[in-house]
Amino acid sequence: MTTIDRYGVMGYPVSHSRSPVIHRLFALQTNQNIQYELLQVTPEKLETAVRQFQRTGGKGLNVTVPHKTEVAKLCDQLSERASAAGAVNTLTFIDSEIHGDNTDGIGLLRDLAVNLGVNLEGAGILILGAGGATRGIVGPLLEMQPGALLIANRTVDKAEVIADHFKRWGPVSACSFDDIPLDDHYDLIINATSAGFKGETPPYPEAAISPDTMCYDLSYGLTPTPFSIWARDHGAAKSVMGWGMLVEQAAESFNIWRHVRPDTAPVLKQMKITA
Ligand code: ATR
Repeated sequence: MTTIDRYGVMGYPVSHSRSPVIHRLFALQTNQNIQYELLQVTPEKLETAVRQFQRTGGKGLNVTVPHKTEVAKLCDQLSERASAAGAVNTLTFIDSEIHGDNTDGIGLLRDLAVNLGVNLEGAGILILGAGGATRGIVGPLLEMQPGALLIANRTVDKAEVIADHFKRWGPVSACSFDDIPLDDHYDLIINATSAGFKGETPPYPEAAISPDTMCYDLSYGLTPTPFSIWARDHGAAKSVMGWGMLVEQAAESFNIWRHVRPDTAPVLKQMKITA
């Protein structure tokens, strides 16, 4: 009898997650016999749920909001990038151990570099927000050798902690929304706040946009997100939602688990149409 390897995504809330669809499409494309479940788990039940999934033969999990930081504490081994980010989005159960990795940053980079053709070398980058999502992307962005990377956050201390943590990787600094230097040029503005998700609109810095600025929202939707509308309305050269990052980070997780990298292009196309 052949057994089907079990995977899933754990989050709270998680019903909106597109990961099951994406992983099923990857499995079809690469002829992998897997099952992928949607697991809604509250923060209090996180450890019990992860260990139960492992005990019952589960092979791997994606972990999403709000568990990415907490789940790192359950891991027996962390990849370098997960350890640097202090956040985990991919668990692999190997023998009796839990291995944690973070594919968010590489997912964003692949979307920017491969799908969108952006060269970040020497670029001015502004990240809005300083939560778990920002932690996952700062290291990989700095590896692309931008000219400067500024993290602006409502709570400036949180931005400062992240900038301090990553300063040996490259030119990163922090400020509040009100103190964003508007004379500087930003080639790329990334929205990593969870404001849109909650239906809120922060005071996004409109003067930071110039006609050749690309705006990238880590959030995504079938209709434009508030940030992507704001960016378009204020004259950004391009306003992109995070569909590409979503599919690319999933492909990296799939590769970690199944040792085969799916072709993301057809899946990305299908997600944007049918999600
Ligand atoms: P995630 O893991 O998605 O990054 P998070 O860790 O809760 O989620 O972080 C959410 C980020 O969105 C934070 O930077 C938060 O700002 P604070 O650190 O000041 O809380 C930011 N954020 C959420 N709602 C916001 C709003 N209405 N205006 C500005 N920033 C907001």
